[in-house]
Amino acid sequence: MAILTESENIAPRRPIMAANWKMHHDHLVAIQVLQKLSYRLQKTDFEDPDVVVCAPFTDLRTLRTLIEADKIPVFLGAQNCHWEKSGAFTGEVSVPMLSKLGVTYVIVGHSERRQFFGETDETVNLKTKAVLAGEMNPIICVGETLDEREQGRTNERVAAQTRAAFAGVKSVDAERCVMAYEPIWAIGTGHTATSEDANTTIGEIRRVLRDVVGSSADVIRIQYGGSVKPGNIADLMAMPEIDGALVGGASLDPDDFYRIVAYRA
Ligand code: 13P
Repeated sequence: MAILTESENIAPRRPIMAANWKMHHDHLVAIQVLQKLSYRLQKTDFEDPDVVVCAPFTDLRTLRTLIEADKIPVFLGAQNCHWEKSGAFTGEVSVPMLSKLGVTYVIVGHSERRQFFGETDETVNLKTKAVLAGEMNPIICVGETLDEREQGRTNERVAAQTRAAFAGVKSVDAERCVMAYEPIWAIGTGHTATSEDANTTIGEIRRVLRDVVGSSADVIRIQYGGSVKPGNIADLMAMPEIDGALVGGASLDPDDFYRIVAYRA
């Protein structure tokens, strides 16, 4: 019997392209943007990755209606959630509320939330477990600052964030998680990590995942995020460890985001 090498043995992972609209596009603009994206998606034949649109909370109900009415091949995503199911948490939105709206993916631990809104490794873990308990899929973000990178601490940082996020998560549930490696210095700056560097760090994240959740690590899709554009997506996707992209700025324009989704077309 032929012995498979480790890379040959890895189950194929379906690519996943996620738009993170951040605090852009009110619900009226969101309709126009999704309609344009839908037109492009339905007119073209390509090997489709999963496509996710992570919109502001105020857009979700409207987008859900549009997705259902026009049978748009897009998963709805949110950008944050609270870990409690309900309670006196003014301004927060719970997992059951998102689930009722047909949300499938929830971004957890984005660096902007860690940096500006006090998100910690502990709350990322609580939110990850809450999203999984709510039968949805977290997109768990990790990434190093420029200082950490310059000090040679990238692997140490993403490993710690990954271990913390998955603490107490069962392997079978871990398979429903997506991870996004987003070096903070590459977000919104026009500086992308080289494909090779991104691949190496994502490989390191997967090595840590194997340690934490065993062979489920080979099922978990890991995206790259940080100044992804139509012009650099093909190089990134050519890397064996990179399973997709979490796209900020370039996802706001439906034509640009479509060109990222259809990078193989
Ligand atoms: P940009 O694509 O604008 O760099 O943003 C990346 C990001 O933060 C996606 O979550």
